[in-house]
Amino acid sequence: MEQRSPKIIVTAGPTIEPIDPVRYISNFSTGVMGYAIAGEAEKKGFDVCLISGPVDIAPPPGVRHINVTTASDMLEKINLEKEDSVCIVMSAAVCDFKPVAVSENKIKKGNDRVSLELEENPDILKLLGKPEGLLKVGFALETEDAVENGRKKLEEKGLDLIVVNERNAENNPFGAGKKNFFIVGVSGESREYRAISKEDMAKEIMDELEKLL
Ligand code: CTP
Repeated sequence: MEQRSPKIIVTAGPTIEPIDPVRYISNFSTGVMGYAIAGEAEKKGFDVCLISGPVDIAPPPGVRHINVTTASDMLEKINLEKEDSVCIVMSAAVCDFKPVAVSENKIKKGNDRVSLELEENPDILKLLGKPEGLLKVGFALETEDAVENGRKKLEEKGLDLIVVNERNAENNPFGAGKKNFFIVGVSGESREYRAISKEDMAKEIMDELEKLL
């Protein structure tokens, strides 16, 4: 009998949270990291399900691709795909906040000031809990104490591995080009990668992940 390839979910890109029919809040995520991981996972023989917010890049060949918009939409699609998956890599930059109410009509100017009330989105990685047989890999974007904050997130979100990006004067993690990263594991050990492309980093992440599977 033919053996099925292990299934992996990779999330990528930003989520977008509507304000009114023509506006939204979001972030600077481009999806480059997540798409590189999805491509690398496919090369390694995984059955890849790429769940992505809106980005300008094409999905890698051989990868099943699901488009999403909001954080809630992403959570819903993950819940539909997770049962038969061995791993989820959450490289998506999920918006932490969304408008409390979405205006049915375009919000008109003329009031000098407008205030927007925001509420927290569901924390997808936290909500997934620690299901048996599902390896959880998270990302962290930090502006200070990268490794220490990464370790905290790994614990809080019940992760098996976390990839940490630092946003500072010498490193802008958004978009293509060479970046600095750390990988932190459950025993707290960290490894630093300096001036590495996201394609090469995707290989490193998949190699680490394979050791855990
Ligand atoms: N994440 C998630 N659900 C959210 C927000 C983030 O699953 N609502 C995931 C991201 O995909 C990432 C990890 O959690 O893998 C860490 O995201 P990050 O934005 O660095 O951290 P937050 O948990 O949002 O914490 P903070 O913004 O306070 O640093």
